[in-house]
Amino acid sequence: METILNRELSAYHERFSELMNHLQAYQGKRLRPALLLLVARCCGRIVPVHYTLAAVIEMIHTATLIHDDVLDQAEQRRHRPTVHTRWGNRTAILLGDLLFTHAFHLAASVDQQACRLIGSATNRVCGGELLQWFERGHWFLSETAYLQIIDDKTAALTECAAQLGAIYAGASEEMVQAAQLYGRSLGRAFQIIDDLLDLIGHEATTGKTLGTDLAQGKATLPIIHALGQMPPAEADAFCQVLQNGSLGNHAHVLAVLQRYGSLDYARRCAEETLTTARAALQAFSPSPDRDLLDTLALWSLERPC
Ligand code: IPE
Ligand code: IPE
Ligand code: MG
Ligand code: MG
Repeated sequence: METILNRELSAYHERFSELMNHLQAYQGKRLRPALLLLVARCCGRIVPVHYTLAAVIEMIHTATLIHDDVLDQAEQRRHRPTVHTRWGNRTAILLGDLLFTHAFHLAASVDQQACRLIGSATNRVCGGELLQWFERGHWFLSETAYLQIIDDKTAALTECAAQLGAIYAGASEEMVQAAQLYGRSLGRAFQIIDDLLDLIGHEATTGKTLGTDLAQGKATLPIIHALGQMPPAEADAFCQVLQNGSLGNHAHVLAVLQRYGSLDYARRCAEETLTTARAALQAFSPSPDRDLLDTLALWSLERPC
């Protein structure tokens, strides 16, 4: 997968060497490729097309992050300055577009089904980001609307990665569906925990700018929960605090969330979602690869903050 990624991007090295060097050093956890390849092994074996698909998914993921950091005005990603911080918004938008289109061109070397599935998942990711942008500052967002946003912006791509791993390993329909349920649930839980880390994590560990959710007016699960527990007058006052910018109020916001058990609530939701993910793995025969997928689910809950 790494070889394919490097090979594909090498085409741009001459014209955009600085940007490409940045991208080369700009590696995240590779969660989605790992997911795709482990599911492939659980459903049969890895074939060359899997590596291409894993590279396509990671390229799309990186493109969404480059654009997401523009939207969130985040300065750090993967322990490095974000693309827009170093080269400006225009470069970040165009580089994201370059990666998106390259990914689809590469997917077309596989087959029409891969293009259709990846196209539809990427479309959901973009729609999720757009919906989130439209909902900014709506602190009374319902939990259902929150879940819709994170299922689109994050779980759609992890579901797609797992689905592709299964389909191209020749899995039965039942196994493909189990893989999708695992990928979808893992993605949802991963985003719930990510949103928690945005409130209580450390930038030195996560390697990215935190606190952007409140700053950008995103109502995440702990906020939604706390507001739902408060008497109306207190909820209105809390919204005012959130609206006035969280920077100086961070400690106060955290204290309120703690008082209402809202951080614990979000964690419990992630735990429950991961129980669904882990149960879905029962469709696969026991194997070290299945154990790794199980470990991946546990890790996403316990990942260092
Ligand atoms: C970040 O995803 C965006 C979210 C969905 C929360 P990752 O945490 O997988 O990002 P990298 O690829 O490891 O940087
Ligand atoms: C959006 O979620 C991630 C994408 C799907 C692009 P966040 O905005 O919470 O992701 P981070 O925290 O910047 O990685
Ligand atoms: Mg972000
Ligand atoms: Mg986040």
